[in-house]
Amino acid sequence: MPIGFIDVSYLQAPAFQTSSASRWLLSRGTDVWWWPITGTADPADVALLQPSDHERLSHTRSPARAAEFITSRARIRTILSTVLDVPPDLIELGRRNCPCCGDPEHGPPAVLRPETPLWISNSHTEGCSMLAVSDSPVGVDVEHMRAVRTDALASAVLTRSEDTYLRTVLEGTARTKSFLRMWTRKEAVLKAVGIGITTDLTAIETHPRSEGTARIVAGLSGRPLTWSVSDLSLPGPWVASVAHRDGLPGTVNLHRAG
Ligand SMILES: CC(C)(COP(=O)(O)OP(=O)(O)OC[C@H]1O[C@@H](n2cnc3c(N)ncnc32)[C@H](O)[C@@H]1OP(=O)(O)O)[C@@H](O)C(=O)NCCC(=O)NCCS
Repeated sequence: MPIGFIDVSYLQAPAFQTSSASRWLLSRGTDVWWWPITGTADPADVALLQPSDHERLSHTRSPARAAEFITSRARIRTILSTVLDVPPDLIELGRRNCPCCGDPEHGPPAVLRPETPLWISNSHTEGCSMLAVSDSPVGVDVEHMRAVRTDALASAVLTRSEDTYLRTVLEGTARTKSFLRMWTRKEAVLKAVGIGITTDLTAIETHPRSEGTARIVAGLSGRPLTWSVSDLSLPGPWVASVAHRDGLPGTVNLHRAG
């Protein structure tokens, strides 16, 4: 079904297709690329921006945020050009319609051109950006390790068992990291669902005692699905997770880009 319709069938039955791109990924599972953000943009990257990127940049006040956006859009197009085997400047990025309300402005990110069955998700935080590519709905989130008022946020974000775990098991940096781990697991899943953080986070159990991977239930209202969430190990002060439908074949492959 073309982008432009509300189509939530993908959340029920992800179908593998046989384009060259999906063959590239089928044996690989979900691929995730990360790259460092330095605060300055390469002029060559500006040439890869599409009109909607320039429009968005015109509303970006922070030079650092603008540089990060330019770098990330160029990285995303360069990575996808390898996956899809087309020049990076022919890749048009956009959005799918929101699976909840159908609005084309705030659905999950998509490759609009060339036509592809692949799904993408991206995330940015201080010093790091990421792109995930998969044959089925995918969500990725990365957070910079920083001081977080975990006690103040717990009641709005955590399930009762997550809160108990955080308060009774961990202290200091370990507590902060564990909170951010639960956060990235939740946000990755909600990006894969396609709705973002618009639902009750205290209803999503991320199983913090489960290290490395967790099976997490979340979905559109009344239509829960199970997601397989993998924690990503990055060589820097970041916490990241990627989510894809549980039960699909393949592994999660992490790459550095740039
Ligand atoms: C999606 C969301 C969680 C991202 O939050 P964030 O932590 O600030 O940002 P991140 O850097 O981790 O991710 C940003 C990316 O999320 C993606 N994103 C935006 N909306 C998304 C959605 N509905 N589903 C999946 N991914 C989405 C975009 O690709 C965006 O990248 P871009 O800035 O390069 O365009 C947040 O923007 C959100 O919850 N948005 C609300 C979506 C909405 O309005 N839904 C309505 C349901 S009716």
